[in-house]
Amino acid sequence: MKKQIQRWLQNKIGIGENRDQIMILEKKIASLSLLQEWSMDKIIPIPAGLLEATKAALPEKYKSVNCNIHCSDPMFRYPLQVHGSQSLKVLKEYFLTGLEAAEFIHDQNPKAQRILDFGGGYGRVSRFLHIFFPNAQILINDPKKSAIKFQLENFGHAIDDHNPVDIIFAGSVFTHLPKALFERTLHQLMDTIDRGNTLILTLHQFIEEEFLFYPHTEESAMQELEDSLDESQYGSVYCSKEYFEYCLYSHQNGNSFKYSIDDSTSFGGTQQYLIIKRL
Ligand SMILES: C[S@@+](CC[C@H](N)C(=O)[O-])C[C@H]1O[C@@H](n2cnc3c(N)ncnc32)[C@H](O)[C@@H]1O
Repeated sequence: MKKQIQRWLQNKIGIGENRDQIMILEKKIASLSLLQEWSMDKIIPIPAGLLEATKAALPEKYKSVNCNIHCSDPMFRYPLQVHGSQSLKVLKEYFLTGLEAAEFIHDQNPKAQRILDFGGGYGRVSRFLHIFFPNAQILINDPKKSAIKFQLENFGHAIDDHNPVDIIFAGSVFTHLPKALFERTLHQLMDTIDRGNTLILTLHQFIEEEFLFYPHTEESAMQELEDSLDESQYGSVYCSKEYFEYCLYSHQNGNSFKYSIDDSTSFGGTQQYLIIKRL
């Protein structure tokens, strides 16, 4: 029995004659990928021609956008992994998702002077905000230090000072938070919304079950990226409308908020926009 187990282990790690070819391939790709991460520039060197083709898909007034993409941005790296060599498709989707979200935020309050991109990551959306709001202060918040550093250096945004803002945007953040953190974070954001101001967040379509949390995300599929998040704190989340409303109205001033869903459009083609206003 012991010998059989030893043999099985040897096979698995590639010494035995029936080595597990798939596992060897997986490990080989993981080690090559790690070596590549170590030798890579922080900003992905996208070929000029590809960048030109990407910009051609953007309306004229947005072509001035800063197109730097951080090498650890999962919002770019994961679709690239899924779509393989279809790099132009992935680049266009990345920039158009950011552009459309910034446009949506602008439509809610074109006169906003302070806008917080909460969980803004590596700036897929915020890079467009100063084009839509040339005179506004754009603030950012994210648990990833590398994301904050990248945004400060590349887009000149400011770090969240936790003072009230006109609009908070949380794009694809509540689609990831475990139950207790979901409610706590919602209440924290509601605390920084003054009368007449707006919190916009995105969620998957509502489901029947109260709350589902799966530990599988783009992060867990790419552990090699910088500042990778813990699976227990960052998963894939689906919840019911009733649960969302419970979280909203259980805030100490819950009665002074109202929310609506804008189903004329979606974030990244899949997530619904929820607009929460303080009356
Ligand atoms: C799916 S990404 C979306 C990034 C960005 N909003 C975008 O659309 O490109 C989710 C972001 O939420 C951040 N995040 C994770 N946990 C968070 C938390 N507890 N509070 C704020 N942001 C969080 C992650 O670091 C990540 O940048």
